[in-house]
Amino acid sequence: MSNSVFEKIDAMLHQIQGETIHSAEELESFRIKYLGSKNTIKPLFGEIRNVPNESKKEFGQRLNDLKKTAEETFAKAKGELAKVEADSKANNIDLTAPYARSNKGSRHPVSLVMNRIIDIFEKIGFTVEEEREIEDDWHNFTAMNTPEDHPARDMQDTFYLKDSVTRLLRTHTSSVQARVMTNTQPPIRIIAPGRVYRNETISARSHCQFHQVEGLYVDKNVSFADMKQTLLYFAREMYGPDTKIRLRPSYFPFTEPSAEMDVYWGLETDVDYRITKGTGWLEILGCGMVDPQVLDNCGIDSKEYTGFAFGMGIERQAMLQYKIEDIRLLFENDVRFLSQFNAAY
Ligand code: PHE
Repeated sequence: MSNSVFEKIDAMLHQIQGETIHSAEELESFRIKYLGSKNTIKPLFGEIRNVPNESKKEFGQRLNDLKKTAEETFAKAKGELAKVEADSKANNIDLTAPYARSNKGSRHPVSLVMNRIIDIFEKIGFTVEEEREIEDDWHNFTAMNTPEDHPARDMQDTFYLKDSVTRLLRTHTSSVQARVMTNTQPPIRIIAPGRVYRNETISARSHCQFHQVEGLYVDKNVSFADMKQTLLYFAREMYGPDTKIRLRPSYFPFTEPSAEMDVYWGLETDVDYRITKGTGWLEILGCGMVDPQVLDNCGIDSKEYTGFAFGMGIERQAMLQYKIEDIRLLFENDVRFLSQFNAAY
């Protein structure tokens, strides 16, 4: 009698070990069969009555082991099913689902315009020179033929470094002309983009920091006509193939003769009238033939070489292009302003 009870336990152990559980349904029927309130192990406990006393302890142990095996088999199968489900979810990617938009950065409008200007001049063989923003008096002023008593040197225009009368924040990118010409002999054909500083009252139209692109071309027989043709090419690339330019006589200490270049903007709307001050023309840059004194100051023989130079502000061109009314917006780094340029390149 007792043998057959032990055989029943063995038979059920085999049964449990032979169960295959591959789905939630199979898992549930396993649970009902072996662990549920009417499970098939339970009745075996009643059989203890038929077990001789000396075997009761062993019987109890074997039954508990059987129950434990059922519980462990259930837990293991449950864990495996959960894993299979998670894996299949991970592989089940919906390629048609819209992607989660991330916040991409955007180029600053000043960089956009500066890069465009660089592209235009690189196409005709100008290379980019970048130089320091903290300059000395010589490269910013003296070499550029700006005499000691020139008003541009005034403390009111120039930021000098603390406790220094010679070190300053460059007031124009023309200082790069001096840097390049003292280091290289012609032919020189460079543009120099960068930030410049002037001690000016900040308003909607002017700021104490802004950006310029300088241009310098020095070689044998460089003429005013070369300069005019180069600037016409630039204006047409920048403002459209039919753009008209005019050169007005002007004065800079480092060029002779000097000029300012205007492009024709139009005079159709009130806005045109306002931004061109009723003339239809917009001033874009200063330019001229490099003063022979500047060449000599920088160690280039002015009897052998001539050159032209120009310098243009970036902010005003960016404001025109993107219809920005207040220059201060360009320096405040408000993301609500900057993110409008996301699509621009
Ligand atoms: N440096 C001048 C300015 O800041 C611009 C300029 C550059 C004029 C080169 C002539 C030649 O206004």
